[in-house]
Amino acid sequence: MLCLQVLSILLIATAALASEEDVLELGDNDFDSRLSEIDTALVMFYAPWCGHCKRLKPEYAKAAEDLVRNDPPVTLVKVDCTEAGKETCNKNSVSGYPTLKIFRNGEFSQEYKGPREANGIAKYMKAQVGPASKELKSVADLEKFLASEKESVVIGFFENESDLKAAFFKLADKLREKVQFAHSSYKDVLAKQGVTDAVILFRPAHLKNKFEPSSVTYSGPAESSDLNDFLTKNFYGLAGVRKSDNQREFKSPLVVVYYAVDYVKNPKGTNYWRNRVLKVAEQFAGKVNFAVSPNDEFTHELNEFGIEFAQSDKPKVAARDASEKKYVLKEEFSVESLTNFVNDLLNEKLEPYIKSEPIPENQDEPVVVAVAKNFEDVVVNNDKDTLIEFYAPWCGHCKKLAPAYDELAEKLKGEDVAIVKMDATANDVPPNYDVRGFPTLYWAPKDKKNNPVRYDGGREVDDFLKYIAKEATNELKGWDRSGKEKPAKTEL
Ligand SMILES: *[C@@H]1O[C@H](CO)[C@@H](O)[C@H](O)[C@H]1NC(C)=O
Repeated sequence: MLCLQVLSILLIATAALASEEDVLELGDNDFDSRLSEIDTALVMFYAPWCGHCKRLKPEYAKAAEDLVRNDPPVTLVKVDCTEAGKETCNKNSVSGYPTLKIFRNGEFSQEYKGPREANGIAKYMKAQVGPASKELKSVADLEKFLASEKESVVIGFFENESDLKAAFFKLADKLREKVQFAHSSYKDVLAKQGVTDAVILFRPAHLKNKFEPSSVTYSGPAESSDLNDFLTKNFYGLAGVRKSDNQREFKSPLVVVYYAVDYVKNPKGTNYWRNRVLKVAEQFAGKVNFAVSPNDEFTHELNEFGIEFAQSDKPKVAARDASEKKYVLKEEFSVESLTNFVNDLLNEKLEPYIKSEPIPENQDEPVVVAVAKNFEDVVVNNDKDTLIEFYAPWCGHCKKLAPAYDELAEKLKGEDVAIVKMDATANDVPPNYDVRGFPTLYWAPKDKKNNPVRYDGGREVDDFLKYIAKEATNELKGWDRSGKEKPAKTEL
């Protein structure tokens, strides 16, 4: 019993040490006094029960570890709005959790609008302190800077003023929240690098590999836009580590290899597979982009490709071509299977993956059921004005809408109008429909099927009827343009 207790205390103690030692917890009695002594602080106002706060916590702690060692340092603070920091949260108009704000010398400076992942937080906050490009005054500075960075960094080496130097600073200013820049004019630093007027991109130590150089020297014109292109092209290298905070930087055509990518807990295993990806990526450089992604961070995306990931699985591969069509590697991952897959992708020999429910065998109900595989038939080429609802099976508002939607369809049975629904969680939504919440409704007139408009009106039968009566390509048989029901024709 005693042993167990001691053990659990030890466990709790180490967990706390490992995770949060660099985050400063403040409350009502010390918030103002302590914060006024800190040049730049990021403050997280939180509630212990809030899910988003719990998810942010480890990322915040990791960023804090990095930022206390930054020069100049940034302090990450947290305030519990339910207990010790109630009043402080009130005073700072905290209305949701977590709320993040930047303070300088105890004064509120600005809302935090950066990313919520450790690396992103650190980069964003580093950009808030000091200049856009950090000056390296010695070889030791240079080495320290290179060793501390977890992503590619860009360093300018300038003996004199030059156009390249001007372009470099212009770009550094523009990208300061995204990329770490540094520069030097010190003789020994230039001598160490063996250059006098150059911009060089350095890849972080943990991503070094034998398939690409660990640094790339810029050789284009002295224009910041060209320099920007150079960065875009080289920043992530042959097979970048694509995570949720940088995924938008990876452009199609893109081949993503998913597995337990983790450079903190398992760098060896991570490199084992990445080296195989690099071997393939090298052959296709400039034609297709490659990335590796942690599968546990992308379960939603994997689902979009119909990929189930079991713990014992080898890496899984999914791709998008330049027109965003989806493809999945069906064979087991190997250098050879990946090579063939990418070759086939480039030669347009692959069948695109379409997430779809089976096409319904019959359409007996007034509301027509669309799935990805029959969308062309029941919407695009149905030769009718069409109202489409994109729903999710679990969505309460969708369930509430269902009876009205059925009734609407029933009423419009004899009209030149189709009332359609699609489960957007089980089917690919065509690209000209933007579905972010449920239900989302679109009106697609029969001559403008490629240009549907979002329906934002009321959700009662009459609201729909009024809208459709007005917007219908040809006037409805049963309703006039104002939505008034026409008198039934009397038989003579
Ligand atoms: C910098 O200026 C010095 C003195 O004018 C000159 O000797 C040197 O070549 C210049 N360096 C570069 C890279 O242009």
